[in-house]
Amino acid sequence: MKNFIFASILFALLLAVNAAPFQLNKRAITFGACKIEPPVDLLEVKIGNDHPTFGKNESFDVSGTLTKNDITKGKTVLQIGYGDSYGNLIAEPYIQNFNDSIKAGTPFNISASVVPTPKLPDSYEIAVLVGDPDIAGGRPFACASANVSGSSENAKTFDIFKLI
Ligand SMILES: *[C@@H]1O[C@H](CO)[C@@H](O)[C@H](O)[C@H]1NC(C)=O
Ligand SMILES: *[C@@H]1O[C@H](CO)[C@@H](O)[C@H](O)[C@H]1NC(C)=O
Ligand SMILES: *[C@@H]1O[C@H](CO)[C@@H](O)[C@H](O)[C@H]1NC(C)=O
Ligand SMILES: *[C@@H]1O[C@H](CO)[C@@H](O)[C@H](O)[C@H]1NC(C)=O
Repeated sequence: MKNFIFASILFALLLAVNAAPFQLNKRAITFGACKIEPPVDLLEVKIGNDHPTFGKNESFDVSGTLTKNDITKGKTVLQIGYGDSYGNLIAEPYIQNFNDSIKAGTPFNISASVVPTPKLPDSYEIAVLVGDPDIAGGRPFACASANVSGSSENAKTFDIFKLI
């Protein structure tokens, strides 16, 4: 009997240890401010399948209010990119045009329902940008990003935060 209890405890402990990294992996993806100086407006992002899976399409619902810039139909884009832990793009970012012009101060929303998911490393960052690629330096009007699985050490390059 004693041995059985001991074995049961050991077994329970092993289960707990095994479950720990799995739970860490499964942590829900939450978006926050992008590391851009000076800061830009923050976007609210809802992701469809948490986490994104290689070879499948992912959906993103993006909303927000631009404080300084207008959204111009046919000019302003939504750009979604995946970056490695150094801030380099993993694949060509996804780009979608806005269909409507929206003045600064007016809430907007845009959905991208078929964003292809590239082959992802264990740690990566998702960057969602809104802006006009024509303006200097590809600096976005608004942005949101999420670190997945612990992600970035001190990233030095920030290609994922630039409009292409
Ligand atoms: C992602 O990680 C970088 C580097 O640790 C950090 O500066 C940044 O704030 C993180 N981004 C989010 C949205 O948590
Ligand atoms: C992803 O979307 C593209 C474009 O709509 C489509 O051709 C492709 O079949 C989709 N892939 C999957 C796995 O659903
Ligand atoms: C935006 O325009 C594209 C192509 O013209 C169309 O496929 C899409 O449904 C439109 N989206 C919205 C939200 O109206
Ligand atoms: C998205 O924006 C349109 C107007 O552009 C609005 O009619 C609609 O209610 C908005 N949807 C959400 C979920 O906020």
